[in-house]
Amino acid sequence: MHGRYYRSSHTCKSLLAVTVTCEDLDFPPGFQFGAASAAYQVEGAWNVSDKSENIWDRLVRDKPELIADRSTGDVACDSYHLWRRDVEMTADLGLHFYRISIAWTRLLPNGFANKISEDGLNYYNNVIDGLLEKGIQPMVTLYHWDLPQSLQDLGGWTNPLIVNWFGNYARIAFSLFGDRVKTWITINEPLIMCDVPYNTGSMAPAIVNPDVGAHLCAKNVLMAHAKAWRIYDKEFRPKYHGELSLANHLIWYEPFTPEDEEITETAREYMAGRYSHPIYSKEGGWPPVIEKIMAENSKAKGYSESNLPAFTKEEIDLVRGTFDFYAVNHYTSRHTQGEEGEEFGAFRSDVPDVGAKYEINPDWKPTTSSWFFVYPEGLRNQIVWLREQYGDMKFIVTENGYARLKGLDDTDRIEYYTEYLKQLLLAMKVDHVNVSGYTHWSLMDNFEWLDGYTSKFGLYEVNFTDPMRERTPRASANYYSKIIKQRKLDICC
Ligand code: NOJ
Repeated sequence: MHGRYYRSSHTCKSLLAVTVTCEDLDFPPGFQFGAASAAYQVEGAWNVSDKSENIWDRLVRDKPELIADRSTGDVACDSYHLWRRDVEMTADLGLHFYRISIAWTRLLPNGFANKISEDGLNYYNNVIDGLLEKGIQPMVTLYHWDLPQSLQDLGGWTNPLIVNWFGNYARIAFSLFGDRVKTWITINEPLIMCDVPYNTGSMAPAIVNPDVGAHLCAKNVLMAHAKAWRIYDKEFRPKYHGELSLANHLIWYEPFTPEDEEITETAREYMAGRYSHPIYSKEGGWPPVIEKIMAENSKAKGYSESNLPAFTKEEIDLVRGTFDFYAVNHYTSRHTQGEEGEEFGAFRSDVPDVGAKYEINPDWKPTTSSWFFVYPEGLRNQIVWLREQYGDMKFIVTENGYARLKGLDDTDRIEYYTEYLKQLLLAMKVDHVNVSGYTHWSLMDNFEWLDGYTSKFGLYEVNFTDPMRERTPRASANYYSKIIKQRKLDICC
């Protein structure tokens, strides 16, 4: 099986010919380092004040069996109360920016824009001002999977009205925080918030409806992102001069054999292209190959129209070009071959639409998350592919990190991000991709969705049995801060 793996034309040809020198491991002036977290995963305080219920608050109560340790984000890292400590940690690391997300239900308890929570407003003002006082830029995600339950009850991301609901929420966030927040992520990982819940029922809102639900969600997410970008562009950019994008979860696909190149490219279009082509390509709209496959599949299943909802000409124009950079969340890769395969992890159910089988190379080290295997070259290959598809633009790695068990001596995490950063430098220096920042996921251990607290991603370890949720820097935190200070990787000098 081993011997069958094949490197496609996208895989690091130049890497094989390049001897990496110490200068190659320098980060260019202006390159920014950050770390990330997300509201539901760290804030806790799930029902304080006027905050309302979101779809994860609901899921962990209704279906606790879905979470590995039957835990919740009710308290999580308690960042709602301990945000000062979080800010201190970002400063100790020497971060240039800290990526957080706003909990929609903390800011707008009704889900709608008719009521702003004073407590929610104070909380986010405190965090943003606290960071700025230390010279750290806030990068703010508007939506990191915690939809107001009240909007879910009205259909959530499958209801096209969410485009306006999200637009109204975004407008409020821009008007409240836009004077201080200059980098915004509209929506985090459509692939995981649409495909996984509606295909497998395993993440909120856990509604199994792969034929229709996942694709309605996909279109509405793209439209909602575009709506928010256009609102910012028209009403806020002239005075605040910020930048916005949507963050995509990108799994890199490599063919098993040369014969699998075509199916692999289709798999890339399905997983990365569906959420990229409408925004970043010159022509806009769905990737044509996916549009065709989905039309055929839908017909074969007896539907009278494609399950992939069409964009009108106006909608194509509305969505196309709504970016200021490309936000890459990347962790892992797969090998692809042209036949339907066995169930594998949360992503396997996406396979049938393109008729591909995904496998893991046995050389790729597993982590504590079932979906996550280490293949550093995947980061470079993925970014180069995106540049080839959509042209030159600015890229920011908005997430990359490593899952392991607890413990302060996390040399495997250091090895992980050193290797991924090396691949990023190769993309920048050898392939000349314009990458302006790297974000480590995560600042601290937190509620890792279906893994609960069993998979630890933090530079800081959090003691979840301590009511004060003590945070302790790991070896990887010290090493990351050294890289940031030196602005270079340490591996050959
Ligand atoms: C992507 C998500 O944005 C984040 O919430 C999650 O914790 C990490 N990946 C690790 O799975």
